[in-house]
Amino acid sequence: MSAPKVDFNDRMLSLGLARVSEAAAIASADLIGRGDEKAADQAAVNAMREQLNKLDIAGVVVIGEGERDEAPMLFIGEEVGTGNGPGVDIALDPLEGTTLTAKDMPNALTVIAMGPRGSMLHAPDTYMEKLAIGPGFAIDTVTMDMTPTERVEALAKAKGCAPKDITVCILERPRHQPIIDEVRATGAAIRLITDGDVAGVMHCAEPTLTGIDMYMGTGGAPEGVLAAAALKCMGGQIYGRLVFRNDDEKARASRAGITDFDRIYTRDDMVTQDVIFAATGVTGGSLLPGIKREVGYLTTETILMRSKTGSVRRMTYRNPTS
Ligand code: FBP
Repeated sequence: MSAPKVDFNDRMLSLGLARVSEAAAIASADLIGRGDEKAADQAAVNAMREQLNKLDIAGVVVIGEGERDEAPMLFIGEEVGTGNGPGVDIALDPLEGTTLTAKDMPNALTVIAMGPRGSMLHAPDTYMEKLAIGPGFAIDTVTMDMTPTERVEALAKAKGCAPKDITVCILERPRHQPIIDEVRATGAAIRLITDGDVAGVMHCAEPTLTGIDMYMGTGGAPEGVLAAAALKCMGGQIYGRLVFRNDDEKARASRAGITDFDRIYTRDDMVTQDVIFAATGVTGGSLLPGIKREVGYLTTETILMRSKTGSVRRMTYRNPTS
């Protein structure tokens, strides 16, 4: 689909984006705590795709459910929208935290970001080493070259507090044990999460609400771009470096147009132009409440943001179920 010459009208499109995010969350509601990750994800994918196809955009999924041969819906390169409207790139994760949803654990979200064509890194489905902090700090207050100890000390100094007053969010994985041990040795606290590092990174942007100052560790590369889109709207810094486990993953990166496999991406390298971003809480967390059930209604909360203005809206949606 060649992109029609229509400006990316982020202001008008943002409400549509919130609807897409809400629809995916509502579709997964009946699958919270039912032990079936796949069914929860599929329900969210179907609903997100259906809503996206109602929007007047000529959209292309650049971060999606996987490569075309692996994911029948919302695959990388899928064209979405009515085709009448601006050409846009879309990064999405219809259910970020499938296991969290299946086990009814905190911080599962539906997530979607949209920007003009070419605005977001086409990250391959590999891992990415990530480091993030919230707004209000000088660029490079913490860097990928620093050790975990140096990062904690540098952030504490910039914040005007002691290392023990810093909380770092880390995915609980055996691969992170050395980082966990080192951060603990500084006296800093660690919020371990079992899944959901988009939320983990976003938590850094609202430390008063969430209690988290810094995120570090390795998770999905697509989730890294989504997190960068969120921080571009909320403020804050994120750095990412792709991590490859084998040649197939390097081939995926090459297919996505990546030539420098060791590059450290900043937030604005991953998201190069203004974007809009929406996330809806599925299970309750420190950033967003989860879906609430009452007889006859489901209620969701969505965070809807525009990087151009830095606006952050929290929208409550009461959806009749009968
Ligand atoms: P899913 O929602 O696809 O299950 O992914 C959740 C997630 O925890 C991401 O937030 C994170 O980036 C990635 O998985 C970590 O991967 P792994 O489980 O392989 O360590």
